[in-house]
Amino acid sequence: MERTLAIIKPDAVERRLAGPIIQRIEDAGFGIRAMRRVHLSKKDAEGFYAVHRARPFFASLTRFMSSGPAVVLVLEAPDAIKKWRTLMGATDPAKADAGTLRKEFAQSIERNATHGSDAPETAAYEIGYFFSGLELI
Ligand code: CMP
Repeated sequence: MERTLAIIKPDAVERRLAGPIIQRIEDAGFGIRAMRRVHLSKKDAEGFYAVHRARPFFASLTRFMSSGPAVVLVLEAPDAIKKWRTLMGATDPAKADAGTLRKEFAQSIERNATHGSDAPETAAYEIGYFFSGLELI
């Protein structure tokens, strides 16, 4: 079993897409090990996306991610990191495959509905950013 951090981003929560996205997560066979609604501050978003600090889209991304509530989840499945990234589709919805969440729900490369960890080390950092060990028992 593997765990990954998923976020239903503010664009999707605002459009009342959290329910449909959670349904797709459950239909795909993931276990939801933890889940919480959060409204990140700009500083919270900057800490979460620290690896992207030097990117030209960093300021806009962190402004967007702190613009409204999001839903953070810990998903569990065999090969969960890759499985969740496959279900989300490409970062840019214009390049996402049919049937993926971003193809269906994303509005742009920034307002792309969901986030997922990209590697085991990132998943450990990102899960720990939102959830304590006690919340994951
Ligand atoms: P995410 O998977 O959360 O990882 C980093 C985020 O930065 C990404 O989804 C997008 O929301 C955003 N992002 C990535 N590339 C770009 C880009 N070229 N322009 C604007 N935002 C981007």
